Amino acid sequence: MKGNNKNMFASKVGAILAAAGSAVGLGNVWRFPTEAGAHGGAAFILIYVIFMMFFALPVMITEFAIGRHGGNNVTHAFEKMSGGKRGWRWMGLLPVVSGIFVLSYYAVVAGWTLFYTYEALVDGFSGKSSEDFAADFVAFSSDSLQPVFWMAVIVAMTCGIVALGVQRGIERGAKIMMPLLFLFILVLVACSLTLPNAGDGMRFLFHPDFSKVDGSLVLSAMGQAFFSLSVGLGCLCTYACYFRKDVDLMKDGQSVACIDTLVALLSGLIIFPAVYSIPGLQPDAGPPLVFITLPNVFQQVFGGVPWLAYLFSLLFYLLLVMAALTSSISMLEMSAAYFHKNLRLPRPLAAVVVSLVCMLFGTFCSWSFGDWRDVTLFGMGFFDLFDFFVAKLIMPIGGLLMCIFVGWVVDERVLRAEITNNGTLRSPLYPLYRFIIRYLAPVGIFLIFANELGLLDFLK
Ligand code: PHE
Repeated sequence: MKGNNKNMFASKVGAILAAAGSAVGLGNVWRFPTEAGAHGGAAFILIYVIFMMFFALPVMITEFAIGRHGGNNVTHAFEKMSGGKRGWRWMGLLPVVSGIFVLSYYAVVAGWTLFYTYEALVDGFSGKSSEDFAADFVAFSSDSLQPVFWMAVIVAMTCGIVALGVQRGIERGAKIMMPLLFLFILVLVACSLTLPNAGDGMRFLFHPDFSKVDGSLVLSAMGQAFFSLSVGLGCLCTYACYFRKDVDLMKDGQSVACIDTLVALLSGLIIFPAVYSIPGLQPDAGPPLVFITLPNVFQQVFGGVPWLAYLFSLLFYLLLVMAALTSSISMLEMSAAYFHKNLRLPRPLAAVVVSLVCMLFGTFCSWSFGDWRDVTLFGMGFFDLFDFFVAKLIMPIGGLLMCIFVGWVVDERVLRAEITNNGTLRSPLYPLYRFIIRYLAPVGIFLIFANELGLLDFLK
């Protein structure tokens, strides 16, 4: 069944793919392996999955409910769902502001992936040693022009897709890129698993060592679950405004969370067997893992078969670019929708205005790896500051406020009607969901957040 309103996702599949596109991104393919690598693998993953199920997924369903109830304008969604309580109105600005912040620094890393795709395409990796890869990455990321250029290209591509509109841009983009992404992942996993010592990589991923569990692991696992599902910023509220009334919000949330976790695990299955296939390489190489360690791995492992090294590298970076794009689209839409709907700019102009702002902030973030290394605020460079602000402050606070809003402020009948599509769905998990967003999630998020800010000190 197709909907005709071009400001809505035309199909249920389109809605799921768009939300999954937002969720699946560099967070899965770059941040997840980095975090899992830094925190010892399987134990981190287990705790991450628990946070995903009991915290991030319920917040995602909550965002869906708020957004769809708001109907086509996220800025008014909170006020409408609260039954006109004006005090909650300002929450509608959350996606507008956070969209700009998150895209500004995300686009920098997305730009790196685009540059690496280009390098793979022109066969720029062959013949390089591991020292070359490390030196080249540092030289590239600290340059004042090149990474800014690639960041701007990614933002411009994102802008082009958002300018096309909800159905022709966002939905179509997701419908094309998400299946391709899956295909690439499967091919890469199959290659990776045939590498020597692949078993060690699998063991790292699936054999938990609980002695690694500490406070920093728990915090990182929660942060990763929120970041990976795109929750807490109002991004999914924005997309849910375009959901049709017959979308099953609970089921869609579960599907998106499953797809997202699957992609993260599969990315681990690409990356860790590859890392372990070369003696001496470590899985905890940190953020440069996919930019320094991996291209080096591809060259060394497939060095005897140059076309395989070429293909593996190219597919991998293309995968990163597509994952990044489907997420950056959702980030731009968060703010552009406001300029389009509330300030009445034509959609393309709204997308361009927000893109230019993001390019400006993105430039500062990019320079913080080079010329502006010493320019700090609160002890952090721009990139780290933006990441801290988004992932460690807005996401948990936003998630917490949304749980309080829907769990305690919104009339229960309104929530139930939204989740059960006016009583037409059975939604047997509704009571559990409501319990989580009223008690478990707010208390849990608050405790972890307070601990992170040093207000409490129970996670050592
Ligand atoms: N979930 C995305 C990823 O995994 C990142 C994202 C965060 C997207 C917030 C939108 C909003 O890369």
